[in-house]
Amino acid sequence: MLTETPRLRLRQWTEKDKEPFAQLNSDPEVMRFLRPVMTRAESDAAIEAQMALMEKGEPAFWAAARKSDDHLIGCIGVKHVSFEASFTPTYEIGWRLAREHWGLGYATEGAKAALGLAFANWEISEIHSFTVLANVKSQAVMTRVGMSRVEGGDFDHSALAKDDPLLRHVLYRIKKRDN
Ligand SMILES: CC(C)(COP(=O)(O)OP(=O)(O)OC[C@H]1O[C@@H](n2cnc3c(N)ncnc32)[C@H](O)[C@@H]1OP(=O)(O)O)[C@@H](O)C(=O)NCCC(=O)NCCS
Repeated sequence: MLTETPRLRLRQWTEKDKEPFAQLNSDPEVMRFLRPVMTRAESDAAIEAQMALMEKGEPAFWAAARKSDDHLIGCIGVKHVSFEASFTPTYEIGWRLAREHWGLGYATEGAKAALGLAFANWEISEIHSFTVLANVKSQAVMTRVGMSRVEGGDFDHSALAKDDPLLRHVLYRIKKRDN
């Protein structure tokens, strides 16, 4: 286990996380601002990619589990940004929870812990976060964890087609000393 908050545990992924993670990745509402819903195989591959990062000692999107019963509620974590943009190379913080766990403060609680973990354990001086303009819930988490919107930082995601409605992104940042 990496860290605990009052209600959550951020930890390595296990085989038993695959079913609940596949369920949330197949929910169109959860994936509305991310990408098409995932198949079970794609979801399992996403877990395995994060497990591999952790085994290499790198930060990752960690499994976020409810402390009371260790049930997976989603992923929260920090990882190296895998595409090129004006603000890369950098690390991003991200979160994705099953819909039944929205509106409870879990993302904010877990993300604060994830920032602390990342700054304490890796040579990371600043962490970015980004999302599509319309994803106001995610931007609210960014603000609640102390991130600030980067002025003039809006960008078109290079992995998306120019006519993709999810193309335009907002950019937030937090520096180590601010955390
Ligand atoms: C983005 C996402 C994680 C935000 O979830 P969320 O539940 O809105 O965020 P939090 O967990 O921080 O919860 C905050 C809400 O819980 C409420 N809340 C209830 N109990 C609370 C408690 N004990 N402590 C703190 N907040 C609490 C807050 O008032 C707030 O409600 P509001 O949205 O009505 O203002 C979620 O919408 C999601 O998984 N979306 C799909 C994936 C996605 O888009 N990820 C981001 C990609 S960039």
